[in-house]
Amino acid sequence: MRKFIDRVRPRLLILALAGTASCGWLAWAGNATVDASEEKAGGDTTVYEVGRNAFSFPAANLDEAGRTTFAIGNSFFRRNWVEAPSSTTARDGLGPHFLARSCGGCHVQDGRGAPPGTLKNGLSSEQPIALLFRLSVMGADGKPRPEPTYGQQFTVAAAQDVKPEGKLRIQYTEMPGRFADGTRYSLRKPTYTFTSLGYGPMAPKTMVSPRIAPQMIGMGLLEAIEEPDILRNAREQAARGDGIHGMPNRVFDVYAQREVIGRFGWKANAGSVAHQTAAAFNGDIGITSEHFPAEECMPKQTDCAAAPRGTSALLATSAPMASATTTPKSTPVEIDNATLEKVIAYTATLAVPARRNFNDLDVRRGQALFAQAQCAVCHQASYTTGESRFPALSRQKIHPYTDMLLHDMGPGLADGRPDEQANGKQWRTPPLWGIGLVPDVNDHSFLLHDGRARNTLEAILWHGGEAEASRQQVLKMKRDERDALVKFVNSL
Ligand code: HEC
Ligand code: HEC
Repeated sequence: MRKFIDRVRPRLLILALAGTASCGWLAWAGNATVDASEEKAGGDTTVYEVGRNAFSFPAANLDEAGRTTFAIGNSFFRRNWVEAPSSTTARDGLGPHFLARSCGGCHVQDGRGAPPGTLKNGLSSEQPIALLFRLSVMGADGKPRPEPTYGQQFTVAAAQDVKPEGKLRIQYTEMPGRFADGTRYSLRKPTYTFTSLGYGPMAPKTMVSPRIAPQMIGMGLLEAIEEPDILRNAREQAARGDGIHGMPNRVFDVYAQREVIGRFGWKANAGSVAHQTAAAFNGDIGITSEHFPAEECMPKQTDCAAAPRGTSALLATSAPMASATTTPKSTPVEIDNATLEKVIAYTATLAVPARRNFNDLDVRRGQALFAQAQCAVCHQASYTTGESRFPALSRQKIHPYTDMLLHDMGPGLADGRPDEQANGKQWRTPPLWGIGLVPDVNDHSFLLHDGRARNTLEAILWHGGEAEASRQQVLKMKRDERDALVKFVNSL
């Protein structure tokens, strides 16, 4: 088959066909079909960009007003927040405990974070920034609670006169293996240890979930996938009877004020870009807002509770000052709703870049193997979005390669920490769009929820649980088939 294709080189023919057929299905080599719309991974929002800024463009079809909001949101996403009190009142309130000074500190270039100590350019800091750790303990009622001393997220940085919560040590153990054809590979398994704990020991049996910062593209499009489409994915998988049975996470959304399907984060524990953004300001940077008005200072962290708070939102909303005898009705917060909304809009309307090498023969062969190995059951290719509050994102034919569902991925990847309805083995199928551009944007190729995979093939080899049969198929592939599969994934 391969030889035949190499000899006749139908590439030019396919390109010629693609040129005339603006949409619809193209036949390939008589037995596989490829949807010509797939090149535009984000529909009309798609930008044709590669290189370091590939993830940083506004949706191609965003109107002028949308672009203005995007530009302002961008500045609040990127620029550093400072400690209170400060003369820069529009951006003070950092901490008291925090991980990074800006969204962009973790989502570098709107892209993906790297685990510490591993960047090729040697510029990584010693302490993890883009790799954060969620903590919990099991309550008497069988429900998870924040760890009593350190809360629900471990932070490594603190404002002046406040103790940092501690540091982290990561050790990797190599786990060698072999493909059926005898080729060797090695996976590295991380072990995490908390050190220099600022407020004493952590509770015994603390459950820890490591999470790396993912790329920011197409967030509003994922939000606009219609609920019935996600529920249909779950139904169709349940009907297969082959062990793949994803389920949606269900989470309370502070903006919708009701339970919704979880969509964002490695365990789909946030239901909207708005909720995710406000929660990130609060948990990762220490910036309070209307729905997240409190800093996470645990009872033992008295220095945290005593630290000065930012005043920006007090100035920005300028509610009439309460008199000395009445208590103010609204809690002062560090980012006002208007500014927050611009960051939300920015995050929602970052464009998805177009696929590269869409018509490459190996890529198409890899696509067929991707379907054959059942990858596409979870990494569901295509949707048409519903109505979005950002009109540019409505009714777009998109190709994110996710079912938005949680799957048991086996003991190798399990964190053992439940998150809303997700159990300690489940992860949300991550969208694969843009994945091949991570090395361009972030100068690394670390993948999976904690960046343990050093490249695409390692990420695939970590699959287990519901995806064990897929992994077995990959182990049996010949080298040229593995290469084609990886080439396809990296074309997304
Ligand atoms: C300390 C690093 C860090 C900072 C700072 C940070 N994030 Fe994140 N972000 C993450 C991590 C880690 C995740 C995955 C969270 C999870 O799995 O629960 C994430 C997830 C997200 C997601 C969902 C991505 C997806 O694919 O589901 C969005 C949207 C997001 N962040 C936006 C923001 C915004 C906006 C800010 C600034 C207000 C911000 N983040 C600040 C680390 C960070
Ligand atoms: C049962 C559902 C399922 C199947 C089948 C499946 N995946 Fe995944 N995939 C996932 C989940 C869930 C993750 C996230 C796991 C984690 O981060 O711990 C993932 C992660 C990935 C990643 C890394 C993504 C990232 O953002 O870091 C790649 C690449 C990938 N899968 C490719 C494949 C390929 C190729 C196949 C077929 C050989 C496949 N997957 C089969 C569910 C699945």
